[in-house]
Amino acid sequence: MAVNRFVLNNISYHGSGAIKEIPGELTRRGYQKAFVCSDPDLVKFGVTAKVTDLLDEAGIAWKLYSEIKPNPTIKNVQDGVAAYQASGADCIVTIGGGSSMDTAKAIGIIAENPEFADVTSLEGVAPTKKHAVFTIAVPTTAGTAAEVTINYVITDPEKVRKFVCVDVNDIPDVAVVDPDMMASMPAGLTAATGMDALTHAIEGYTTKGAWELSDMFHLKAIEIISRSLRDAVAEARSGQPGSGREGMALGQYIAGMGFSNVGLGIDHAMAHTLSAHYDTPHGVACAMLLPVAMEYNKPVVAERLADVARAMGVDTTGMTVDEAADAAIAAVRQLSADVDIKPTCDGLVEADLDQLAEDALADACFPGNPRDADHAAVVELFCKVMA
Ligand SMILES: NC(=O)c1ccc[n+]([C@@H]2O[C@H](COP(=O)([O-])OP(=O)(O)OC[C@H]3O[C@@H](n4cnc5c(N)ncnc54)[C@H](O)[C@@H]3O)[C@@H](O)[C@H]2O)c1
Ligand SMILES: [Fe+2]
Repeated sequence: MAVNRFVLNNISYHGSGAIKEIPGELTRRGYQKAFVCSDPDLVKFGVTAKVTDLLDEAGIAWKLYSEIKPNPTIKNVQDGVAAYQASGADCIVTIGGGSSMDTAKAIGIIAENPEFADVTSLEGVAPTKKHAVFTIAVPTTAGTAAEVTINYVITDPEKVRKFVCVDVNDIPDVAVVDPDMMASMPAGLTAATGMDALTHAIEGYTTKGAWELSDMFHLKAIEIISRSLRDAVAEARSGQPGSGREGMALGQYIAGMGFSNVGLGIDHAMAHTLSAHYDTPHGVACAMLLPVAMEYNKPVVAERLADVARAMGVDTTGMTVDEAADAAIAAVRQLSADVDIKPTCDGLVEADLDQLAEDALADACFPGNPRDADHAAVVELFCKVMA
């Protein structure tokens, strides 16, 4: 067997009320002041305060940084590094979706490795020497799993591109996955971020580097997400908490344990490009591309897609491998439709296709795809999500 590396959080907490563990995780290590990274809406809606109130109760000082937009930019990171340095903080607590957590991860890395202050030099596998500032990550969406991944994604608005940074030094030390932190998500955000998580699990299961240990996480994640997402969206609509939200909190984390270690594929490469050009929410971009990417990859991963169908609860008895793979693609389309995700991308026009394909081919997720694709093939795939 080839040598495979696996990186996970040192400690993770799961379940309703898990955020109560945060003060103790800081004080037992002697940290004095937390740099709290969260986005402006989460501050406004009182989600960030659920954690900062606990810090106050425990007498732990903190300084807020919230200049973070969805699909965070180089400037969000650089301003954050300056704010961190001015704050006198000795640790980071990040509360938010992938945008807040990714910004915090980049800030924590640059604070300890200032030679990467330009941010863009972190793209790809970044040769940083020091581990990021001690970080506790608290997700408020059930999707990106940035709390357990060694990746972060930053947008370069000048070049109209998102870039992925991969670095074992950036994994948050502690993840606190508390479904109560996700309870205020509206239905649309629950659906989009949940489909991001499903995309992680399916791309992670079919990516080139997949192996038995990562398979274990991805199959379980597909199973939990497929049975939980519709309920989570219904719970978001009704405002009633339930097992859907809890399942999504866990399922997305398990997907992250897998894909962070083996990579993704063409869906994410193309999704990053759509978000950079049209500010498409990440989960929406992933969801609309998922059946398209599965169809494209089917000739080389049909058996694996048949496993995906079974993990999604499809009874494949009597089906050929080909039929079972098609059933997986149909099940994904149905799930997307059931949670009201549009199958086409707003803003996508023919004139942009060449540039989009070029950017997707250059994305760090692209080499993980199990089937090669040239420029013309990627243009054709983008056409399939054009309205
Ligand atoms: N690091 C990784 O491994 C990884 C993986 C996938 C995606 N990403 C990146 O993560 C980003 C997307 O993150 P995201 O999908 O979690 O969304 P997000 O962080 O961009 O947040 C989207 C919106 O949802 C709001 N929101 C978040 N939680 C909420 C809650 N509980 N209640 C109400 N509103 C809430 C935010 O305020 C924001 O306006 C993208 O930049 C993507 O590229 C990173
Ligand atoms: Fe993603």
